[in-house]
Amino acid sequence: MDILAIESSCDETAAAIIRDGREMISSVVATQIEEHRLYGGVVPEIASRRHCESICGVVNEALEKAGISASDIDAIAVSFAPGLVGALLVGVNFAKGLAFSLNKPLIPVHHIRGHIAANYLAHNGFEPPYMCLVVSGSHSHIVNVKSYTEFETLGRTIDDAAGEAFDKAARAMGFPYPGGIFIDNASKTGDSSKYKLPKPHTPNPYDFSFSGLKTAVINLIHNTEQRGEEVDVNSLAACFQKTVCEMLTEKFIAAALENNCKKIALAGGVAANSGLRGELSAAAEKHGMEFFVPPLSLCGDNAAMIGCQGYYEFKAGNIAGTDLNAYATMSLDEVNF
Ligand code: KG4
Ligand code: ZN
Repeated sequence: MDILAIESSCDETAAAIIRDGREMISSVVATQIEEHRLYGGVVPEIASRRHCESICGVVNEALEKAGISASDIDAIAVSFAPGLVGALLVGVNFAKGLAFSLNKPLIPVHHIRGHIAANYLAHNGFEPPYMCLVVSGSHSHIVNVKSYTEFETLGRTIDDAAGEAFDKAARAMGFPYPGGIFIDNASKTGDSSKYKLPKPHTPNPYDFSFSGLKTAVINLIHNTEQRGEEVDVNSLAACFQKTVCEMLTEKFIAAALENNCKKIALAGGVAANSGLRGELSAAAEKHGMEFFVPPLSLCGDNAAMIGCQGYYEFKAGNIAGTDLNAYATMSLDEVNF
C-alpha cells in the first residue's frame, strides 16, 4: 500500500511516499527556518503563506522522486493536529482536495503520533508496547505506547516544552533561532560543572517544568554582566543541556521501570540532541532496556513519519471525510476528527 503523506503543522512543508507503513520511497522537506529566524521565532501568518506557495511543488517532487503518479497512490495521510492552525489548514485542505478528486481515502494523523512513528521507519522489527519520551518545540511527554494507535500519556510539561526551553535559553545566550542545535554544538567544548542550575520539582513525578530553569539562565547572564564579568557561553550551554537531559532521563527511566518496560524510544525535534541520546542510551544499558531513536533526518518535522503512522491509523479504520478540520491542540491519547 502506497501512502502519500503531507505535513504542514509549523514551519516545514513536507510530503513523502511510504510503502506498507515501513518503507520510505521518497521524502521531501521544504524548510522556512531562514525567514522565521529574522523574527526570532515562527511567524504564523508567514508560515501559512509559505506553505501555500510550496505545497504543490513539494508534493510533485515527492511523487517524482518515488517514480509514481498521483493516481497510483492508495491513500493520502495528513497531519491535522496539533500545530499552528493556519499552517495545518493548508496541508489539510490540499489533502482533502486531492483525496476527493482521486477518490482515495483520507487519513488524519496526529502530529505527535507521527513523531513517535519515525522510529518504525528507522527500526524494522520495532513494535509496541514500549515507553516513549516525546520532546519537541511544543511537547514534552512521557507516553506509554500500548499499540500503534493506543497511547497513554503519563506525564507532560506543566509550562515550557523542552525544545521551547532550549530555544529561549539559546536566545538569552545570543544564539539564532531555533537555538537547540546551537546549544548542543556549544556544549561540546564547555565545562558542564561550571554553573549551578536548578532542577524544578513537579507535583506529579512524571511531569516536567522548564520555565524556572530558563529564568535561572537569564538571571545568571544578567548578574554576571552586571558584575562586569564575561559569561562563558559554551559552559553555560553545557550546564543547561546537562540539566535538561538529566531531568528528562531521570523521570522517563523511572516511568519505564515502574511500568516494567523493556523497550524505550525517543522522538521529536529534541531527540536530535547529542546529550539526550547519550544519556538515554547509557541509562537503557544500565537497566537492561532496548533503546530506539530515529536518525537525525527523521527527528525534526517531516512527512515520512506522518505516512508511517497514517498506515497504522488506516489499518485501525481511522478515515476522515471531506469535513476534516485542523486543530491547534488535541490530546495524543484521544484523537477526534
Ligand atoms: O519536532 P520539531 O521539529 O517541531 C515541533 O513539532 O515542535 O522540534 C523543533 C525543536 C526546536 O525547539 C529545536 O530547537 C529543537 O527541536 N532541536 C534541538 C536540537 N535540534 C532541534 N534541541 C536540542 N538539541 C538539538 N540538537
Ligand atoms: Zn514536530
